[in-house]
Amino acid sequence: MKNCISKPINRVDAPAKISGKAKYIGDIHFENQLFAKTVRSARAKAKIVSIKTPTLPDDYYIIDKNDIPGINRMRTVVSDHPIFAEDEVNYIGQPILLVVGPEREKIYEIVSQIKIKYKDEAAIYNLEEAEVKKAVFTEYSYSKGEPKATFQHAERIIEDEYRTGRQEHIYLEPQGITGDYKDGCMYIYGSLQCPFYIEGAIQDVLGWDSDRIRIIQSTTGGAFGGKEEFPSLMACQVAVASIKTKRPVKMIYDRDEDIICSTKRHPSIVRYKAGLNKNNEVVALDIDIKFDAGAYSELSPVVLQRGMFSATGVYNFPNLKVRGRNFMTNNVPSGAFRGFGAPQTIFSTEMLMHNIAVKLGTNPLDYKIRHLLKRGYPTCTSGKIRDEVKLPEIIEKVEKMSWYRRKIGKHKKFKGVGLSLFLHGCGFTGKGEATIKGKIILKKNGDTVTLKVSSVEMGQGAETCLRKIVAHTLSLPMKKVICETIDTGLIPNSGPTVASRTIMIVGGLLRQASLELKDRWNDANEIEISKTYKHPDFLSWDDDKFEGDAYPTYSWGTNVAEIEIDPVTYEIDVKKITAVYDVGVPIDEKTLEGQIQGGIVQGIGWATIEVMNSPKGKLTQHNLTDYKIPTSMDVPEIECEFIENPYEFGPFGAKCAGELPFVGAPPAVAAAVSNAMSVPIRNIPITPEYLMELDKHED
Ligand code: MOS
Repeated sequence: MKNCISKPINRVDAPAKISGKAKYIGDIHFENQLFAKTVRSARAKAKIVSIKTPTLPDDYYIIDKNDIPGINRMRTVVSDHPIFAEDEVNYIGQPILLVVGPEREKIYEIVSQIKIKYKDEAAIYNLEEAEVKKAVFTEYSYSKGEPKATFQHAERIIEDEYRTGRQEHIYLEPQGITGDYKDGCMYIYGSLQCPFYIEGAIQDVLGWDSDRIRIIQSTTGGAFGGKEEFPSLMACQVAVASIKTKRPVKMIYDRDEDIICSTKRHPSIVRYKAGLNKNNEVVALDIDIKFDAGAYSELSPVVLQRGMFSATGVYNFPNLKVRGRNFMTNNVPSGAFRGFGAPQTIFSTEMLMHNIAVKLGTNPLDYKIRHLLKRGYPTCTSGKIRDEVKLPEIIEKVEKMSWYRRKIGKHKKFKGVGLSLFLHGCGFTGKGEATIKGKIILKKNGDTVTLKVSSVEMGQGAETCLRKIVAHTLSLPMKKVICETIDTGLIPNSGPTVASRTIMIVGGLLRQASLELKDRWNDANEIEISKTYKHPDFLSWDDDKFEGDAYPTYSWGTNVAEIEIDPVTYEIDVKKITAVYDVGVPIDEKTLEGQIQGGIVQGIGWATIEVMNSPKGKLTQHNLTDYKIPTSMDVPEIECEFIENPYEFGPFGAKCAGELPFVGAPPAVAAAVSNAMSVPIRNIPITPEYLMELDKHED
């Protein structure tokens, strides 16, 4: 237990109605608080020659690398990002120092007077240059069957290449953190997804034990992966600032700053060589995946792994070779974003299958059906599909709802229909769950039960779903089941709120604990039960060979997109998405509906209008005027159904659902555009410029 006393912030427990009482970090006033503003690199790659700072007025401070008592690196998968730059910078926006003080106007004035001299060095601006210069952070590969021999005997070989763009999360609430050093303890408050990641990062930077550190989540206005690793960096910065100033230090980004320096979805290039047999089925596939990881590696290796293990989508390719590389560029670092590498490779493989089918003159759905995974088949990593694959029912249902087959044959120019099939691996990749061993506590006090977990509410509905699992098991009204404040001094480490693991893994542990509590309910007034995750014995994973069960199970889905294209402007108007999902058993349909609508719309944005370029390392779209995301006016009609397929080890049969809805819309929309314009689509976002160019070369 922590030595530091609890000092929880004003928490509002899941109000039944919108009350406006929730406090975001920007709303919380800390007595004696100071503000912090980051001074950032203006260069993509340079040595720092000198930093000239003005004379500081009383109560104003500069915090930089010299103020770090421990390690000047942010702890994550690869702890390579400096908290403050040392003698070099590697991307525009990299933090160099903080200016801290009581008045924001004065801070801005000081910032404008700081002069940094750089000596520019040769930078790498994109994947093509990075490949030429062999700037590789991580390279992995795995294979299955006999790809080489199969290619030699293939009837036909098709080669193709696909590209996906950078994407910014645009969570409603920009990043914000406060560090408060008091009585030898560090309290971090903020908008965050993974309290224990931050605790670990602070430990490294301060050189402290965890018992003097408490991470407390404030109401969090969306995250989508953007608050997975990034808040650790800010937290470490305000922590050292608070130690130096002996005051609470608050740092809230405005939207521009947030976009410029926060992590993005990895831009990708995926190359294929497909070997077809005499029935025109893909029997051998060579996949070469390239991700732009940006200037620091951070958690990109794991993003790449999920990308690689999702690259075969819902298909069985018996002979397979997959190579994946994360490239170092002098762009803002890429990081976690809903889907975590899988949306890039699933988009590419779905479009490959679609484009091959069209080339062969076959209906894309019929062509895809000939390759589907089934129960008992090996996964791409030679694990096993253990559970029933209900894709045939899913397809039948979506066909009935959307009349896809009828519509695809009847398309007119500028109007089309497209279908995607997809899956998502539930929980951490590989041995992640086995390593983290998530722990939960369930506490009965009279007729009330408190859940102690580190899974956070960030707008996705985690609290509702987790409380519902417990309330339902114990036959209690929801109001008798409450969540402990997210404060690392009060909760066990049940792992980060990522990887579509909250309901299946953490909810699964809560279900077990609730069943035990149900048996012991009358034993005492106060009962505390804790559970620690144990990876099922039948799952095996070899992290060196990438062989075995990359995921315990999968959720599945299909999207049918109906679109129209403006014949003058070439803008895409998505009219309708028809969706069917197998997420095991939905825990809370309303919450799930929110995840699905949001995921679909976010996916449509990535596929159509979200352009974020970084020529010479400088983002050209860094505010919401230039970086356009879908608004309520762009939301299509969404019709959604579920196929139940209870998962034995999930609470009430639930599997994963948070990331899955993002994955399906981009390939469905791209397939619809391909149908409307009779051209193969290989790149997203499908901008009007790209589409016009394709249309010109139609013949
Ligand atoms: Mo995530 S993208 O697993 O928060």
